[in-house]
Amino acid sequence: MTRTESSVSAGILAPANAAKREEILGLLERAYWMEMETVMSYLANAASLDGIRAEEIAEALDADVDEELGHARRFAGRIKELYGNPPGSMDFTAEQANLQPPEDSTDVATVIRGVIEAEAGAIAHYNRIIEACDGTDWATQDMVIEILRDEEGHLRQFERYLREFE
Ligand SMILES: [Fe+2]
Ligand SMILES: [Fe+2]
Repeated sequence: MTRTESSVSAGILAPANAAKREEILGLLERAYWMEMETVMSYLANAASLDGIRAEEIAEALDADVDEELGHARRFAGRIKELYGNPPGSMDFTAEQANLQPPEDSTDVATVIRGVIEAEAGAIAHYNRIIEACDGTDWATQDMVIEILRDEEGHLRQFERYLREFE
């Protein structure tokens, strides 16, 4: 498992905090998969949507693909910094049932609702990480607070879009 022989005496890399580090690594791994699945879902939905009304949504989703990939990269990097190893694709389990490209490719509202659900899930999980880090892992906490703000921005953006489609 993770090393504990670090010479650091304070913070999340300290041997005394090995158990906390394991807990945070588990949370970061889940966050990494959430980002990776979001990349797949947003990319596919952006490509799938049809119609004039869908155009702006597809563009927003395409832009978010890059942002979510950036988040995944930051989670993977932080996992490594905590003596962990980013998981390989064979460990992946899909969860975003509500972000499958709809059969009717003009059904923008369904896609928007799926996005809001995914963002809300990320927001809930990142709040959990931020709380778990408190007092021990300030650097992870700081990183996840930044990412949380991105997700809250995404959520609000798509909540505003939804008003137009309901
Ligand atoms: Fe993200
Ligand atoms: Fe997001």
